[in-house]
Amino acid sequence: MIVPMTPDHLPEVMAIDAQCYPIPWSRDVYQAELSRPDDRLYLVARLTAEKNRIAGHGGVAFEEDEAHITTVTVAPDCRGQGIGARLFLALVLAARRRNTSLALEVAVDNPAAQSLYRRFGLAPVGIQRGYYADMGLTPDAIVMRADGIHQPDYANRLINIAVELDYA
Ligand SMILES: CC(C)(COP(=O)(O)OP(=O)(O)OC[C@H]1O[C@@H](n2cnc3c(N)ncnc32)[C@H](O)[C@@H]1OP(=O)(O)O)[C@@H](O)C(=O)NCCC(=O)NCCS
Repeated sequence: MIVPMTPDHLPEVMAIDAQCYPIPWSRDVYQAELSRPDDRLYLVARLTAEKNRIAGHGGVAFEEDEAHITTVTVAPDCRGQGIGARLFLALVLAARRRNTSLALEVAVDNPAAQSLYRRFGLAPVGIQRGYYADMGLTPDAIVMRADGIHQPDYANRLINIAVELDYA
């Protein structure tokens, strides 16, 4: 089940981040993001079969010219089950109500995330050197982008993904 992130979710969200990133986002960063409901959306994926444990989370910033995915993270023991794709689908569905383009940065050595983003029609448009230098990750990022996310063709792509995921 995918629901909006609230401050109550932060201990679990930050525990997942601690397993995934050398320098995870701080509570202050999350609280600042959650305090901007007009131009941010953060979601968590809960496992109803596991007492609503949080399995992953993601966020999007609605900017003037594009929607920008800020994070998509799934707990290591929950990966490969489509949770990342479900979270991403929910973020994209929200993004296409506000923006016509979607963009994000992804580390050059992160094939799983790149594969997920390609499935949603994002294509590489450039390299941002040193993007992750402050996060303890491989520093260079690929910038990926999808235009025309408000168009019917793109809606058809999302419908196909939703069917594949049995997304309700
Ligand atoms: C990226 C991430 C969110 C995907 O979560 P997930 O729940 O495993 O996602 P899914 O089960 O929907 O699978 C996503 C894709 O990863 C692919 N994948 C998984 N492991 C992979 C690997 N080692 N190499 C290549 N692709 C891989 C899956 O095949 C799938 O590809 P597809 O969409 O083309 O079918 C997860 O790996 C993660 O949290 N990584 C660490 C945090 C991170 O790097 N986030 C992205 C920041 S830009």
